[in-house]
Amino acid sequence: MAKLAIIGGTGLTSLKGLAIIRREVMHTPYGEPSAPLVFGEMAGREVMFLPRHGAGHTIPPHKVNYRANLWALKESGAEKVIAVNAVGGIRADMTPGRLVIPDQIIDYTWSRINTYFEEGLTSVTHIDFTDPYCESLRADMLGCAAEIELDVIAGGTYAATQGPRLETAAEIDRLERDGCDLVGMTGMPEAALARELELCYACVAVVANMGAGRGDGAITMEMIERHLSSGLADVRRLLEQVVPRLA
Ligand code: HPA
Repeated sequence: MAKLAIIGGTGLTSLKGLAIIRREVMHTPYGEPSAPLVFGEMAGREVMFLPRHGAGHTIPPHKVNYRANLWALKESGAEKVIAVNAVGGIRADMTPGRLVIPDQIIDYTWSRINTYFEEGLTSVTHIDFTDPYCESLRADMLGCAAEIELDVIAGGTYAATQGPRLETAAEIDRLERDGCDLVGMTGMPEAALARELELCYACVAVVANMGAGRGDGAITMEMIERHLSSGLADVRRLLEQVVPRLA
């Protein structure tokens, strides 16, 4: 059985149902991770947990030290990583509160450090990223969702935007023309760094709002938080099913 780690996103700074055994402050060659790693037990299995935005949700998407976070998980023995990400829905059926397990990414972020392969190389390295998520982990998550009759959307293209501002209505239209179905600020470079470290990485996205211009009026943090809480209850149900299968 593989060692499993969960990266929590907005609204998921702690994991209900995780009995904490210990916390470890990690140091990596790339700096400090967002928070101490939490080692605990869920459904009787060992799991690691890391809140992407810090324990107090203070680190914005463009300031997350993605390299340190994934390095710390790898260093601690993680083999599989489930990332939880809050997103805006672009496709009409990606409505607030729904869960999506995307299968593709388009990266619109800039100036984020997005590789481990930049210094001290013996040769230039290009990872294959045709399928950016670990297909076996996606299949396991979808299988577990079906077992508990949880309605998740299988597949979709995740647009990773720079943030921290939300998009304009025209930007959302452009993302849709590009073929994107959902939009978030934290999917990259996390997924690519996970691949560089040969971690089996997949995402469960929680739709917090319709993309800009697709809902009624302005997008507020209050709206995002309200929708996230119902979606995150479903994420917890899914994780409780997935963890005993994988960890
Ligand atoms: N856009 C980008 N990131 C997001 C959104 C959004 O509408 N909602 C939650 N994260």
